[in-house]
Parts: sequence; structure tokens; C-alpha cells
Amino acid sequence: MPEQIQSMLSAEVIAARVRELGAQITRELAGEPLVLVCVLKGSFVFTADLMRSIDLPLRVDFLGTRSYGEDTESSGVVQITQDLSRPIDHEHVLIVEDIVDTGLTIAHLMDLLRTRQPRSIRVCALLHKPARARVNVKIDYLGFTIEDRFVVGYGLDFAERYRNLPFIGVVERS
Ligand code: IMP
Ligand code: MG
Repeated sequence: MPEQIQSMLSAEVIAARVRELGAQITRELAGEPLVLVCVLKGSFVFTADLMRSIDLPLRVDFLGTRSYGEDTESSGVVQITQDLSRPIDHEHVLIVEDIVDTGLTIAHLMDLLRTRQPRSIRVCALLHKPARARVNVKIDYLGFTIEDRFVVGYGLDFAERYRNLPFIGVVERS
């Protein structure tokens, strides 16, 4: 049986919110240069759109992560599969995440990047599922709070599929 995707956030709704986040970041960083840290793979679509809404001198770097544990459950053990290409000391860092679920990945990344002495670290997450939080993480810029459903599209996957959907939705198995 084919799977159906029920839309939760349309491409238009996402685009409008991403523009707002970009404007807010631009305002608050007030001309300061910035490093966007795109957490691979899920955040590459969000990062590509967000960066074009930020009017600041910025560079982008990529951090590859894999959460051990299968399926839709994060184990909290985060493996770095690809490190940043340059140091971040004395720079303003903005971690760009697709979704904060248990919070374990972002908490781990904050700890890791702090050891490199950045000037500041902020977090921008497109989605947050507070129902599943296991650690408290401060999200400086948040797109949408969602209920506890497994979502795909706009970069987010289920077993590597659906990243190319222009909207965010829920997989429904028929
Ligand atoms: P954490 O539980 O906050 O550590 O989330 C770890 C990662 O799991 C996120 O960065 C996503 O890549 C992935 N993830 C969590 N929830 C979902 C979801 O609903 N759809 C797709 N990926 C998810
Ligand atoms: Mg992710």
C-alpha cells in the first residue's frame, strides 16, 4: 500500500515563517558577522532558505550528525560524521536545526561547540516537539511548535525518504 502524506505546514506557511526568522536574526545580530552551522542532513533545505533571508555578512559550515538508535527514536548518543571545515573561535555561531525533539542532539552539539570558544552560540530550529523533551534546551529562534507526530518533508526524512517534499507532513500508512 502506498503511504499518504497529510500536510501539516504548507510551503507558503513555511516560507513566510522562514522570512520572519531571517529578519529577526538580522535585527538582533545588528551587523555582526555570523557562522551558520547547518546540522546535516535534515537542515540543509531550511538553511538554504534561511540564509537568504538573513542580511548579515555570514558564512555557512556543515556538521554531520547521526543519532544512534533506529527508527523514529533518538538514543541521545550523537555521532559526528562530518566536522566543521574551520575553527569558530571568536565568532558568533548560529546552529540551524530542522527539529528539536528530545533535545539530546542539540544539547550535545552545544557542549561540543562551546569547547571551541565561539563568541556566542545561538540555536535556530524550524520545529519543536515539546511533548518529547528530555533535556531543556534554549531555542533562540523557533519556527513552529508541533504536536508529537513524526513529520517529513522540507529536508526531514523517514528512512531517507521524503526530504524533497516542499511541505511538511505526517506519514499515514494505509
Ligand atoms: P533529538 O531527539 O532532539 O535529539 O532529535 C534528533 C534528530 O532526530 C533531529 O535533528 C531530526 O533529524 C530527527 N527527528 C526527530 N524528530 C523527527 C521527525 O518527526 N521527523 C524527522 N526527523 C526527526
Ligand atoms: Mg537533524
